[in-house]
Amino acid sequence: MTRTILVTGGAGFIGSHLADHLLARGYAVRALDALEPQVHPGGRPPAYLDPRVELRVGRVSDRAALEKALEGVWGVVHLASAVGVGQSMYEIARYTEANVLDTAVFLEVLSRRKDKPKRLVAASSMSLYGEGLYRCAACAADQSPVLRPAEQLKARRWELECASCAGPMEPRPTPETKLPYPTSVYSINKRDQEEMCLAVGRAYKIPTVALRFFNAFGSRQALSNPYTGVAAIFAGRLLNGRPPVIFEDGRQSRDFIHVSELVAGIRTALEREDVAFEALNLGSGRPISVIEVALALAKALGTPIAPSVLGEFREGDTRHCYADMAKTERLLGFTAKMTFDEGLAELLAWMRTQKPEDKGDAALEELRRHNLTG
Ligand code: UD1
Repeated sequence: MTRTILVTGGAGFIGSHLADHLLARGYAVRALDALEPQVHPGGRPPAYLDPRVELRVGRVSDRAALEKALEGVWGVVHLASAVGVGQSMYEIARYTEANVLDTAVFLEVLSRRKDKPKRLVAASSMSLYGEGLYRCAACAADQSPVLRPAEQLKARRWELECASCAGPMEPRPTPETKLPYPTSVYSINKRDQEEMCLAVGRAYKIPTVALRFFNAFGSRQALSNPYTGVAAIFAGRLLNGRPPVIFEDGRQSRDFIHVSELVAGIRTALEREDVAFEALNLGSGRPISVIEVALALAKALGTPIAPSVLGEFREGDTRHCYADMAKTERLLGFTAKMTFDEGLAELLAWMRTQKPEDKGDAALEELRRHNLTG
């Protein structure tokens, strides 16, 4: 019998790719999506959404809409969230409502149903770690530093310094055992979402897995949204003949995972019924610096535009974090295999069809207005 999967946020960047991936594997897909105008211009469903996806328009906190959307569903993937890290620092109430309160209602509805879903996969985020794990070679010790002090950032000393010897530290792969230290309202919301889903799932016997997504990139990243991820922002600027604007010195790194691999990881988590009540990293396991992203995109586009390195920092930003994928590989048997350049090629091929507007300046101005850069 065909299994139906409900994807909250199913019209979005990750949700729509997940829908395609599930449809191709014989699942039926229902999406519950609020079609937020910041992401979906005019609140219209995106053209890329497969017509076989049964789209229900509404927030997950709309109890009646959610009850209906859950009818006959085997598994749920909860992706619906507001996702701008910087924006969450000045739209604090809106983010907390959309990410925490809406998830609370979603869980209440789920937990009270007679026919509960057999699986719940919740989208968590690497941002809950704050800084990743580091190692001081001189002291031969792993460290989990908190945010860089304000004076250090003012002095433009970007790298993390050892708590014992003040020497430089190297980033290490970050395992799930590293204590969370969320540094933005968004990442606090994501930690709450993760813990709420796991706790309620456990209490009501809904086998739940929380996946800590690292930086997803690829086609359909919301180009109209100035708070979209850095790869799409940079590509949009280059395609408009403008230099990418880089915070700090550009050597900060992230773990970029192409969306096609991310959704394969989500589907694996849905299907592995022996794995429950776990939080698992979902990244590529490899760090790429922000300047490398800008240079790789310029090379792929064949444009000589050099990035503009601002030497300013964005409030709440962390320096390095990349996934230790050992637990995910062990429990789910999942590894991402695509190279970063292959992923960028897919993003660019799509962006060339989109005539992207460049909204990067507007986002930067907004952060400055709220004193969230330095
Ligand atoms: C991103 C996601 C977040 C997700 C997390 C983990 C977005 C907006 N945020 O957060 O939802 O939970 O990954 O998957 O997609 N940068 C520049 N110039 C710019 C923009 C960014 O230098 O114009 C730098 C930032 O300072 C940062 C890095 O690029 O060091 C990554 O920033 P961003 O793409 O916003 O992602 P995260 O904050 O890591």
